[in-house]
Amino acid sequence: MTDCNAAHPVSLSNHLMAFGIHVQSDCTSPMPELRQLKRLEQLSRPLNKGRPKKADVVAFYEFLASPRLASWGHSNKADAIRVTGEFVLQELEGERILDIGCNMGYLTSWYARQNPAARVLGIDLSPSCIESAQRQAVKLGITNLRYAVADGARFFPDQQFDSIVDTQGMIDSQTDTATLAKILSWLKPNGKLICVPALGTLTKFSAFLDALAPLHVQITTYNWLTFSAGANKGAYPAMVIRQDATESKLSREELVAEYQLGLLDFRQQNQLERNCA
Ligand SMILES: C[S@@+](CC[C@H](N)C(=O)[O-])C[C@H]1O[C@@H](n2cnc3c(N)ncnc32)[C@H](O)[C@@H]1O
Repeated sequence: MTDCNAAHPVSLSNHLMAFGIHVQSDCTSPMPELRQLKRLEQLSRPLNKGRPKKADVVAFYEFLASPRLASWGHSNKADAIRVTGEFVLQELEGERILDIGCNMGYLTSWYARQNPAARVLGIDLSPSCIESAQRQAVKLGITNLRYAVADGARFFPDQQFDSIVDTQGMIDSQTDTATLAKILSWLKPNGKLICVPALGTLTKFSAFLDALAPLHVQITTYNWLTFSAGANKGAYPAMVIRQDATESKLSREELVAEYQLGLLDFRQQNQLERNCA
């Protein structure tokens, strides 16, 4: 296996730059054309309404995969991508890693680069995203990385994984128990699901906990990841879910309290910064 990274360690910011994603605010991506922005806004509507059809999700990410749009769109979320990548990297374990909803592979390839002994697989619904991810992996000389166009809800992996990653991918408040059970069944014993789902309200977080409840799993790590998003701040709940965990389980009450406290803290901090601005 070639370790493209051993001789030339690269920071996450520099790695993302290869994908046109600018973490530093002094580097900017060119604005897309107005007609592209209008089309993107149109395509984003079903996703923002909630419960989008798969075809709507694919249409949105296929359109966003065009290089200029992708660079601009992902650069707008660069700090969120950065904190997500840092959280996942510190949690990753083992040789076999799956990233569900990998998009153009900007983080998947980072995990592969940082874990040269691992074999990383990224899957996504969008063929254009996967094509772009594959092209970029070749360009960067990353050989411990594969990609496939696949729907995580219908995927049948031919192997089990030490770590499964889903960050703002397919897992959300509408993911049902059967789907979560399926994903967890792809883990090796002691494997972990590292998850940064879109659960922006307590109702969504509670729905996610309800779907997990019938399964014999434990949330062993729970964090809030905070990031800047232009002039605003954002936050994602981030967690590690294990089967057969030896680490102590966080109770539902503890998780809900952590969620509420985190949200309150985040809102107060945001308000404080606005008042000081
Ligand atoms: C917001 S992007 C997240 C990209 C990346 N994981 C990150 O953290 O920045 C969501 C990606 O998930 C993919 N996705 C959504 N549902 C999926 C599913 N059921 N199976 C595979 N990919 C899915 C979309 O196509 C899109 O590329």
